[in-house]
Amino acid sequence: MTDTLLRGRTLSFHREPLGPDDTDAFTYIGDGALLLSGGMIKSIGTYPDLIPVAGDAQIIDHRPHLLMAGFIDTHVHFPQTQVIASWGAQLMDWLNTYTFPEETRYADAAFAAKMAGRFFDQLIAHGTTTAAAYCSVHKTSADAYFSEALSRNMRVIGGKVLMDRNAPDGLRDTPQSGYDDTKALIEKWQGRGRAHYAITPRFAITSTPEQLETAGALAAEHPECYVQTHLSENHDEIALTAQLYPDAKDYLHIYETNNLLGPRTLLGHALHLNEREMTVMAETGAHPVFCPTSNLFLGSGLFDDAGLRARGTVNGIATDIGGGTSYSMLQTLNEGYKALHLRGQNLHPYRAFDWITRGNADVLGLTGKIGTLGAGTEADIVVLDARATDAMTLRMERVQTLAEELFILQIMGDDRAIAQTYIAGKPAKTVTGAAL
Ligand code: GUN
Ligand code: ZN
Repeated sequence: MTDTLLRGRTLSFHREPLGPDDTDAFTYIGDGALLLSGGMIKSIGTYPDLIPVAGDAQIIDHRPHLLMAGFIDTHVHFPQTQVIASWGAQLMDWLNTYTFPEETRYADAAFAAKMAGRFFDQLIAHGTTTAAAYCSVHKTSADAYFSEALSRNMRVIGGKVLMDRNAPDGLRDTPQSGYDDTKALIEKWQGRGRAHYAITPRFAITSTPEQLETAGALAAEHPECYVQTHLSENHDEIALTAQLYPDAKDYLHIYETNNLLGPRTLLGHALHLNEREMTVMAETGAHPVFCPTSNLFLGSGLFDDAGLRARGTVNGIATDIGGGTSYSMLQTLNEGYKALHLRGQNLHPYRAFDWITRGNADVLGLTGKIGTLGAGTEADIVVLDARATDAMTLRMERVQTLAEELFILQIMGDDRAIAQTYIAGKPAKTVTGAAL
């Protein structure tokens, strides 16, 4: 198989930037190149340095675009592609009115398979190369999700949700069936291709204490798997949770006492927390995941990124489609910037672009595999065009620095700014028009 040489401006972060002047946190090469071989990045360097070692590699010239590691979405719902933009409700009504009825459709294997194709098309169109996804309660939906990812050779995380109460007919399992189905799915998918399984109790409201106990047992039996769930997103949700678990000290305590917290745990939202919960999250290494478009759309609240980090957590950032309103991690950064502003916090573009690449890879324990353009890592790459629209082109006329360009992408960018997405070294986005 011939190698590929991508030419363009390369940008890759080695660590989190400490501030707007911290240019040591990344490497930027103006006339850069990436030599791709067998789905991996073989080398990164300047184009003149790499051309002599590129042999008969196919050269793809992406100038003047920016080459970065593919984006990583650490919380997204596969069966909610047709729930986005459902009007007028906060979390519990939104779940009962729109989301649960929609998810019942994923019992049908043919429908789930069709939607998996469309879901991954959207991720790729928006520059996302790795996602941690919730499937529906049905085993069929997880099979559809993982099969599609395998056929596209994508590094993904996913799991069927466990939910045995407070949900309509056709959308509940039992502690035993949820355990058995999860076990079978782990056997089938964990480590197959580039897949990882996430044990996925949806949230405390839709699981009985017996089911959360089985989820904890699964986590103990499968330390190689992730755990993903929701935490403290909305005040009504928190009140109902307290009623259902009267002995719990707080929301997090429910997951804590069921062996569900550790460095491979992803806790979606984590908005309304007490001091104890923040401390326990930091102590256990569990990761709060910021979902700004969802938090604003559902009117859930404002994430305390700086407060959590000060206590020692490593936070993820994610779309939360379909409570979230865009597949784009750029739009996620845009609304993240605004949501953090409302708390008096700031999101500089260096940190923002580190976050959706290396930072989210770190949250997933996958640095060294994805999230950077380092030699020996997997060739999941995004090609960014900061002049994707007329308005962006106009704004770019005044830009003098990389940080300014990145901030335009952060605020104005969406799928139109994704000129190409490479999955394991192969172009995967259907690009219309002439420009690659
Ligand atoms: N909490 C439990 N399930 C969900 C979901 O599907 N979306 C969001 N945003 N929150 C949840
Ligand atoms: Zn969610």
